[in-house]
Amino acid sequence: MELTLAIIKPDAVARNLTGRILAHLEEQGFRIRGLRMMHLSETQAREFYAVHRERPFYESLVRFMTSGPVVPVLLERENAVAKLREVIGATDPAEAKPGTIRALYAESKERNAIHASDAPDTARREAAFFFAGADVLAAGGRELV
Ligand code: CMP
Repeated sequence: MELTLAIIKPDAVARNLTGRILAHLEEQGFRIRGLRMMHLSETQAREFYAVHRERPFYESLVRFMTSGPVVPVLLERENAVAKLREVIGATDPAEAKPGTIRALYAESKERNAIHASDAPDTARREAAFFFAGADVLAAGGRELV
């Protein structure tokens, strides 16, 4: 079993899609092992997306991610990191396969409903960003702390 991190983004939370997206994840075999709702500060959004700070979309992404509440979710499944990427679909909803979360719910490349960690080491860092070590440990993520 592996853990990964998803964030239901402000566009999806504002459109009342949180429950539907969580149900979709459960139907795809993920177990919810941690769940929060929070409003990211500008500092938190900048830090979380620091890897993109040189990209032209960075400032807009920070504004978007701080525009309303988000729902970070700690998820467990076999091969969770790769499987979650598959289930959410491509960044651009126009390119996302039918039936993926972004094909179903994303509005644009930026307002794309959900984030997922892109590799196991990123998942460890991102899980620790939102969940206390003890909570990750309780979820079975011994290797995450
Ligand atoms: P995410 O998977 O959270 O990782 C980085 C985010 O930046 C991405 O989803 C989008 O929300 C946003 N993003 C990526 N590429 C673009 C782009 N070309 N234009 C606007 N936003 C983008």
